[in-house]
Amino acid sequence: MTAIAIFNQKGGVGKTTTSLNLIAALARRELCPLGIDLDPQSHLTLASGIKGLASSETIYAFYSEGKPLSQLMREIPNGHGAHIIPAHMELFKIDSLYGRNPNITSQLKRGLMDELLPDESVPVIIDCSPMLGVLSLNAVFASNRLLIPVSADYLSMQGVNRLDAALKVLEKPLGKPIQRRIVMTRFDSRRKLSYQIYDQLREHYGKDLCDTRIFESVSLAESPIYGKDVFSYSPHSQGAKDYNALTEELLACGFFDPECSW
Ligand SMILES: Nc1ncnc2c1ncn2[C@@H]1O[C@H](COP(=O)(O)OP(=O)(O)O)[C@@H](O)[C@H]1O
Ligand SMILES: [Mg+2]
Repeated sequence: MTAIAIFNQKGGVGKTTTSLNLIAALARRELCPLGIDLDPQSHLTLASGIKGLASSETIYAFYSEGKPLSQLMREIPNGHGAHIIPAHMELFKIDSLYGRNPNITSQLKRGLMDELLPDESVPVIIDCSPMLGVLSLNAVFASNRLLIPVSADYLSMQGVNRLDAALKVLEKPLGKPIQRRIVMTRFDSRRKLSYQIYDQLREHYGKDLCDTRIFESVSLAESPIYGKDVFSYSPHSQGAKDYNALTEELLACGFFDPECSW
């Protein structure tokens, strides 16, 4: 099983947008991905066109009552065979309820291993919350690697050092370095700042920075409002082109292959 956590401790950088469209792009290549929404804000769930669920129908029930993940999986509407385990805002409670349980950090990993969900070849994409708590640790423990979106704005540039510090915090309980790739999002070709940030990221992360940049585009901002990925909403848009290119780049470098390291 290859599980990728889409992580950055900063909000608004494109984690959910990247999760949504990577899942959609993989589904369109008949790879039948599984998305896991691990953010109490439940934006991936909503953007996938799913709303109004009780907490017992979401991953909250996996943590609170040990419900098997397979019972929480549902098909994404018009999702080309992709599935999602949805989130619920009650997930906010997980840290305070279960944070002291020493086994909690590996609970998601155990849940996935126990059921080998849904089979070994299926890529699992985990949309993380911006908090460095129990849920993010669960995502990192369950994943083979991280994909880290960094947006093209001044605060993101400031946040690169904090991002490294956050990764060290996550690596500590894991006991090994986390394999990662950085992807620049919200790139605005009219702004000098976007190029400066891309150069700085290249200098800092070298080959760990994806060549593909995700440009700022209206279709990416609008599609979640209609509960759609960018390929369904606007198939010829810049956003669709960019997420297709990112998917091709990640497939080509073996990012979804659990045995491959680069
Ligand atoms: N490349 C982009 N172009 C335009 N809007 C974007 C882009 N990426 C994300 N957005 C918008 O920015 C906001 C934050 O993105 P989101 O993916 O929810 O970030 P995060 O999950 O990191 O908090 C959302 O309203 C989203 O639609
Ligand atoms: Mg999000």
